[in-house]
Amino acid sequence: MTEFKRRKAGKKKVIPKLSIEDKYRMYEESVQNPEGDLEIINREYFKIFKKKPLLLREDFSGTSLLSHHWVKQGEEYKAFAVDLDPVPLDYGIRNHSSGLSHSEKQRLKIIQGNVLDPFLNKVDVVVAFNFSYFIFKKREDLLNYFKAVKKSIGDNGVFIIDLFGGTEAFQEFEEKTKFKKHIYHWDCKNFNPITGECLYYIHFKVGNHKFEKVFTYDWRMWGIPELCEIMKDAGLGVVTTFWEGDDGIGGGNGEFYATKDAENCQSWVTYILARNTP
Ligand SMILES: C[S@@+](CC[C@H](N)C(=O)[O-])C[C@H]1O[C@@H](n2cnc3c(N)ncnc32)[C@H](O)[C@@H]1O
Repeated sequence: MTEFKRRKAGKKKVIPKLSIEDKYRMYEESVQNPEGDLEIINREYFKIFKKKPLLLREDFSGTSLLSHHWVKQGEEYKAFAVDLDPVPLDYGIRNHSSGLSHSEKQRLKIIQGNVLDPFLNKVDVVVAFNFSYFIFKKREDLLNYFKAVKKSIGDNGVFIIDLFGGTEAFQEFEEKTKFKKHIYHWDCKNFNPITGECLYYIHFKVGNHKFEKVFTYDWRMWGIPELCEIMKDAGLGVVTTFWEGDDGIGGGNGEFYATKDAENCQSWVTYILARNTP
């Protein structure tokens, strides 16, 4: 064997590693839309109370991207971002807080904590986005969480969650979306129709390498009617369901409107807003 061939035969396959920075950067780029979230929060709150919402609590905040956008809206805006996991929280501090002014930093409190723990401050808005509350598989646990939120929003507050569904959401299916430097894979691995439990993964493909199972979601798939009922059981007397407008070519147009009636489709994402009875 020549020197060249020997070296080639001994060459080990290098398995690329995904850094924390790349992991959360790709996650945010793939699934988050803080501008869209702010639009619906501000608009719907103003419709109800005829004033701007100023104090936000972002539950299950992850990298707390939304809270960072929140405090940038103006001097009166304050946010609490709550997550159990210090890793995404620290990513947010490293990558987003560094872009905040001194005043904006002062108005953002990043809390490593459990959303079920008592929270002393009353806020105008609590959000639980990217379906994070699907972590609660038992009705009783979800009810306890909604009850805790009810206490935090008082009479002038709203609670907004997002959720997804549609016939495709229950099928074992891997959906791919291309971004500038990576491909995002949303992989439904398993759905149990008896318990409603589901297992999803996020994979990222960068160049020729696919980073498998970068995020794992072991969830219960909750539906709109049962979520509305549990919110009511938690004492949130007014519950409003939203649906996304049609873009005319089979997709959504990004505009959400309040309704109780919608056409079924393969895949949808929407919001529910709840508040205490006036
Ligand atoms: C799907 S991520 C959502 C991140 C972010 N909200 C978003 O929109 O992309 C779910 C987050 O919930 C956090 N989490 C799970 N259970 C929690 C709990 N009981 N209290 C606080 N955070 C929790 C996890 O650490 C994780 O960062």
